[in-house]
Amino acid sequence: MPTTFTWYGHAAIGISTSGFNLLIDPFFKGNSQATQDSSSLPADYILVTHGHGDHVGDTVEIAKRTGATVISNAEICNWLARKEIKVHGLHLGGGFHFPFGYLKMTFALHGSALPDGSNGGNPGGFLLTTLDGKKIYLAGDTGLFGDMQLIGQEGIDLAALPIGDNYTMGPDDALRAVKLLQPAVVVPIHYNTFPVIQQDPASWVKHVSQETNTKVILMKPGDTIEIE
Ligand code: NI
Ligand code: MN
Repeated sequence: MPTTFTWYGHAAIGISTSGFNLLIDPFFKGNSQATQDSSSLPADYILVTHGHGDHVGDTVEIAKRTGATVISNAEICNWLARKEIKVHGLHLGGGFHFPFGYLKMTFALHGSALPDGSNGGNPGGFLLTTLDGKKIYLAGDTGLFGDMQLIGQEGIDLAALPIGDNYTMGPDDALRAVKLLQPAVVVPIHYNTFPVIQQDPASWVKHVSQETNTKVILMKPGDTIEIE
């Protein structure tokens, strides 16, 4: 079975790999882009990049329904553990060999307060190396940072990057991020969900195609692609 990547809208992502179902930043309730709710989605692990409501999303109810283990930073994991959810805390720069592959938490330039105002620690992203050798970079909410070049040195098969501006990189900085990361494939996310992050993704696709060797895939919410 190939590793697949599903975009549910905004920053909500599903990865299916070696028989494991991962959900990342599962924001469905209140997500204007989502074409489905989360009530029937399978999840073995839920990855949360940072504490904001549009990323923690439906984590608590999905984890309670499925018994999934949530992977996030230590502060967010402690907050979830108090709700009797199974957790595995990582911290920036650290990785762990999970049954589905090696997952490393990467740096992100952003905030991370939790929905109830609790301290959500530092925001992050994830670099996943699957058991079938695919490398997937989920940047999380972040501004552009030069160390994306270091992350790119690992050889990225697919990167999911925010392009919405206002809260994260906008299209111009996301294009510079593609140049630093040099992924084989990039998928733009975190745009058009709210009025302040309205963007024209087709124009971004054109610029990335003209200025880099990276293949851009413009997904519609609910679309699934295979990672080659
Ligand atoms: Ni955020
Ligand atoms: Mn966000």
